[in-house]
Amino acid sequence: MEVSEAIRGRRSIRRFKADPVPKEVLEKILDLAQWAPSAMNGQDWRFIVVLGPEKEKLLKITGSAFESFRPILEANFRDKPRVVEAAKTFLETMGGAPVVILAYGGRFPSGEEDPHSVSLAVQNLLLAAHDAGLGAVWADAAVFYREKEINALMGMEGRKLVCLIPVGYPDEAPKAPPRKEGRVRWVGF
Ligand SMILES: Cc1cc2nc3c(=O)[nH]c(=O)nc-3n(C[C@H](O)[C@H](O)[C@H](O)COP(=O)(O)O)c2cc1C
Repeated sequence: MEVSEAIRGRRSIRRFKADPVPKEVLEKILDLAQWAPSAMNGQDWRFIVVLGPEKEKLLKITGSAFESFRPILEANFRDKPRVVEAAKTFLETMGGAPVVILAYGGRFPSGEEDPHSVSLAVQNLLLAAHDAGLGAVWADAAVFYREKEINALMGMEGRKLVCLIPVGYPDEAPKAPPRKEGRVRWVGF
């Protein structure tokens, strides 16, 4: 797949088939993720790939985030109860994805948190997943409300969880949300 085709064709996928994803395919997308640029080439990211009973425990935690998220959702989607219901289902199931990948940032040499390098690696991962026929999405609502609990389950300390990435074969083909105009200013042309 051409890079431009992958970039334009990738969509955030929130509903997955139950079919398992072969480990070699997961290894490939995680390898490609790590070819991202990183601050001072630190490559100071961590990914945790979660499957099976541990994933079920993780879903209990993400599902419990809904009650904290509910007031914001209800305020923003007052006339769209289906959006609120869909968010609940998504948090409880991660769209039925067979695998959930957790992406953690690291630190700059100064000791400051570096959320950027891991984010670039996640974008690589999303594109590589699309190229492999998989779907995925950057999901972070559960991070806002249950980061501590997720880290405790994973035994992770001292790193910022930037997102959860449910991964699986897509069970939906969403339309591309149109891109907005006027986000680029040209100087000196
Ligand atoms: C920082 C960030 C946070 C996001 N958080 C969520 C989320 O919690 N749940 C979700 O379903 N999608 C989430 N998304 C996905 C966006 O909703 C999605 O990228 C956007 O609607 C554009 O759709 P597309 O990815 O198909 O082009 C997030 C994306 C980014 C970059």
